[in-house]
Amino acid sequence: MERIPPQTTIIEFGKVSKIYPPDVIALRDLSFSVQAGETLFLTGASGAGKSTLLKLICALERPSRGMVEVAGQDLARISPGRLQALRQQLGVAYQDFKMLPRQTVFRNIAMAMEVAYAPQKAIRERVDHLLDLLRLTSKREVILDKLSRGEQQRVALARAAANSPPILLADEPTGNLDPATTRLVMALFEQLRRAGTTLIIATHDPALFSGSPHQIIELAQGRMVSRRPAASERP
Ligand SMILES: Nc1ncnc2c1ncn2[C@@H]1O[C@H](COP(=O)(O)OP(=O)(O)O)[C@@H](O)[C@H]1O
Ligand SMILES: [Mg+2]
Repeated sequence: MERIPPQTTIIEFGKVSKIYPPDVIALRDLSFSVQAGETLFLTGASGAGKSTLLKLICALERPSRGMVEVAGQDLARISPGRLQALRQQLGVAYQDFKMLPRQTVFRNIAMAMEVAYAPQKAIRERVDHLLDLLRLTSKREVILDKLSRGEQQRVALARAAANSPPILLADEPTGNLDPATTRLVMALFEQLRRAGTTLIIATHDPALFSGSPHQIIELAQGRMVSRRPAASERP
């Protein structure tokens, strides 16, 4: 996937519904788009469909109806090779996703860059920068499953951010964090935003988005119940 220039659509949902068999309707008739470089917050109560929406973007789940396009590619028609290439451009921070519980914090983050063939020196510098930013430097050589939930969550974020991906998906990134640590995570998001990353963040923590100029979609029982800024206010 090439870098998508700003002001072009990078994610598009067209009348998407997701039904988990036999009859759980997780998303209903959802249409929206995200421009490259934008930040989108997904909010709504537990069970509203936020995690399902993220899983559709990285093709961990398939829509039951409707179309999902990422970087101009219809995920229903994409070849396995192209899907793999696309996934390498997605930073994904879900609970436990691709994490190695018996490896060190350093290895967990470095691995994301090794599979992208980054040179060793660049890996060390980037990982140490991320550990410093997220106040995890003292945990560098600790085995992941010895960390607290909140620390593991920050390692997952660092891992997802390691390659400065064009798109980053984060599911409840601050769910186990206190306000001070939440601010560290927000600083990381700000850095990524400046580097041009499109951020999709599912959260029920209003601290993350209140007062922000970014798009906020609120889901309730799989439906979009509000979207800010309103279409008329969007550039
Ligand atoms: N793998 C699954 N199988 C069946 N039902 C699921 C599955 N994943 C989620 N659901 C259901 O889909 C709905 C939306 O869930 P989810 O996307 O996890 O919402 P949220 O992340 O907003 O809490 C819920 O009713 C949930 O129970
Ligand atoms: Mg969820």
